[in-house]
Amino acid sequence: MTKLANRVHKVKPSFTLQMATIAAEMKSKGLDVINFSVGEPDFNTPAAIIKAGKKAMDDGFTKYTAGPGMIELREAICEKLKRENGLSYHPADILVSNGEKQSLYNACQALFDKGDEVIVFRPYWVSFPEFVRLADAEPLLVDTLAEKNFEPDFEDLKRKHNSNIKGVIINSPSNPTGGIWSNESIIRLLKIAKKYNWVIISDECYERLVYDGTFTSTEKLNQDNDIGAEVVTCISLSKTYAMTGWRIGYSAGPRDIIKAMSKIQGQATSCANSIGQKASIEALLGDQACVEDMKRAFKERRDLIVHLLNQIEGVTCRVPGGAFYVFPDFSYYLGMSSQEKLLKDTFDISEYILDSAKVVTVPGDGFGSPGHIRFSYATSTEIIKKGIEKVETALKKLKSKE
Ligand SMILES: Cc1ncc(COP(=O)(O)O)c(C=O)c1O
Repeated sequence: MTKLANRVHKVKPSFTLQMATIAAEMKSKGLDVINFSVGEPDFNTPAAIIKAGKKAMDDGFTKYTAGPGMIELREAICEKLKRENGLSYHPADILVSNGEKQSLYNACQALFDKGDEVIVFRPYWVSFPEFVRLADAEPLLVDTLAEKNFEPDFEDLKRKHNSNIKGVIINSPSNPTGGIWSNESIIRLLKIAKKYNWVIISDECYERLVYDGTFTSTEKLNQDNDIGAEVVTCISLSKTYAMTGWRIGYSAGPRDIIKAMSKIQGQATSCANSIGQKASIEALLGDQACVEDMKRAFKERRDLIVHLLNQIEGVTCRVPGGAFYVFPDFSYYLGMSSQEKLLKDTFDISEYILDSAKVVTVPGDGFGSPGHIRFSYATSTEIIKKGIEKVETALKKLKSKE
């Protein structure tokens, strides 16, 4: 049998995609499944964006574009960064990629080597440690404080600090917690990064899905406070404009880093898809009312799911400020048992909920956060009500620890 490269064994498959696959398989067998594992808006891409994509095809705009992205799109991105984030960039500081996932992958490939350690805050989006490993570096998992809305635990950072650290990944608003870090925490981290020469990769994929207060980009905090840390900002069109399948994301950062990332991308995928790029110009420069409409619906669903989860005995759910996830604490149920087995971690709890209630959730242990379970509320209020009721009914059947 062909011997596969070591990196295949080093990297874990996307855990959240596996949960989505289980849900799809159960549905295809005709089961009435409720899926809270979804990582994408349930809305269709707004009509004006679809129209721009169709026009691109009709106009024959179906060929390769410039490797870093069409100049018109990179200009539109600069305009967006100025308008919404208060940041000035030149199109040469922008790299358009096939989804922000590729932006983050490119950044890790361009920046990290064997022997480097990269700080990833726990709970983390499942792909962060894997991007770091794929660059032959090692993720250094640093805790956050659940009781403080998952803000970084600077004491833990101090304990783990070492001279191999080369970078840090920030993700606020966060997947899986939906939490938004305070500006104070980000500024503190920027100052530490500057002092030790760490590069910051700031994943701001959920920047427009912020329900309470305003969002400030990490690079804006860096500039406003004259810190001078190196920040690569990665943003996606996937969540803001319900465009997950179009696969468009981008990075903005120091020109030498962006150039290095572009060199790697050029040999991997040449450029991002041309039709998606044209549609993205419309998304970024067109009417933004669609974003506000989706945001309003998400906020209503967030409030509903938080309320319903907090009604379940033993479950506590904080109100997260952004994204479309809640991350309630289910540790009350650890050590309880169903007829068949003892629930020793959240993998067991999620599996029990799946088997007995046909509801798909994502166990927090998969995000490095025991005791918690992620629920996505990118689904209708009716489904949220029905699904949480089923979860509650299933949990009531569990037997307490002796
Ligand atoms: C935290 C985070 N970053 C990045 C991405 C990647 O988004 P995309 O590749 O669709 O642009 C996702 C998608 O789920 C995400 O949750």
